[in-house]
Amino acid sequence: MRVLVVGGGGREHALCWKIAASPLLAKLWCAPGNPGIAEVADCVPIGAEDVPALVAFARERQVDLVVCGPEAPLTLGLADACAAAGLRCFGPGREAARLEGSKAFCKQVADAAGVPTAAWARFDDAGAARAHLRRHGAPVVVKADGLAAGKGVVVAATLEEAEAAVADIMESRIHGEAGASLVIEDCLVGEEVSFFALCDGTTALPLGAAQDHKRVGAGDTGPNTGGMGAYSPPPAFTPAMQDRVMAEIIRPTLAEMARRGTPFRGVLFAGLMLTAAGPKLIEFNVRFGDPECQALMLRLEGDLLPVLAAACDGTLGTATLRWGGAHSLVVIMAAEGYPGTPRRGTEIRGLDRAAAVPGARLFHAGTARREDGAVVAQGGRVLAVGGTGPTLGAARDAAYAAVDAIDWPGGFCRRDIGWRALPPAAR
Ligand code: AMP
Ligand code: GLY
Repeated sequence: MRVLVVGGGGREHALCWKIAASPLLAKLWCAPGNPGIAEVADCVPIGAEDVPALVAFARERQVDLVVCGPEAPLTLGLADACAAAGLRCFGPGREAARLEGSKAFCKQVADAAGVPTAAWARFDDAGAARAHLRRHGAPVVVKADGLAAGKGVVVAATLEEAEAAVADIMESRIHGEAGASLVIEDCLVGEEVSFFALCDGTTALPLGAAQDHKRVGAGDTGPNTGGMGAYSPPPAFTPAMQDRVMAEIIRPTLAEMARRGTPFRGVLFAGLMLTAAGPKLIEFNVRFGDPECQALMLRLEGDLLPVLAAACDGTLGTATLRWGGAHSLVVIMAAEGYPGTPRRGTEIRGLDRAAAVPGARLFHAGTARREDGAVVAQGGRVLAVGGTGPTLGAARDAAYAAVDAIDWPGGFCRRDIGWRALPPAAR
């Protein structure tokens, strides 16, 4: 198979690494890729959101499968454009991608499918939103309806915080037009996990769960980020819980999307809260999580490529995935300043030494290669340093041994990834 992966972060590096190991692979490209991806794929200088150029490239090179990493190309219609050109694309069409692109749409589908989720209401008017908040009280969650790079959500402990969120998101438009309408919902309490299911429009194959650390600071404090680390599997997510999530959340959603004439193909990422009353949907994403994808790919033993193709062909019903017993843990190394303005251009040394640590694997995210060959930081989240082992503790030790082998004064990471799942003595 001739494969084009779209994207250039740590998630796409993990996907390329896994696809490169497939005996079915003939040729792998990645657009735009990054210096780490360049070790396993041919990087093509086409932006991930340049849909016409991606489709033209895939046609010209007779690509058999386009695998989309990020959500933006999907919400821009990459999968639809591929279909129109006779190309297979792993990822949903524009209409089904609205599950991520609009929180209100996600909630409407969840309600129609009977999926357990927080009670919610949508507002186009700040005055009506405030009146609703005063009736509702705190705690309460205020969200920009549209895409806001994971930053458009305020979990407000007090009414004042909630009203300030309405002012910021809707009146000051701090997230732009994503804040033209708001979703206000009940606050869910429990362990949060990211669950992934491969979907072919009618059938879903569970890929497993991971837990992400979204806050920048130790002990899960400070501002939200795209994710500072992840581990898999999360102990709270038992096989019985997975069955329940498949039956109560994933399959009803697939059925509802098919009923609407916009079947979901690709990977459905359910952000879940495991509440005392059972698992509840926080939100859907229509792509792999980053860094959850790295954690899952590190654990997957079987071949990923045929199941990605099966999701496009509607044949997931007969597909299988082979998992070993490994645990995985991924530590994000970010440039100073992140999640604000990250410092660019600082040099990163010791990557070969880190890659040689037993049980460790490095994925590049926001890196670039300087003219003299040095690897430098070029983004917020710069490296995803993974470890695997027979226990979560062993995976954690491998990941941090690799982190410690990296010489990068311009970067930082959290030292406590996995703390919720590790026994106190092992923290
Ligand atoms: P989202 O962008 O919808 O994933 O929200 C970002 C984060 O806000 C989630 O990962 C949760 O930690 C939190 N969150 C969102 N909705 C709720 C909710 N209804 N109750 C509690 N926490 C929430
Ligand atoms: N790590 C969370 C996400 O990819 O949305």
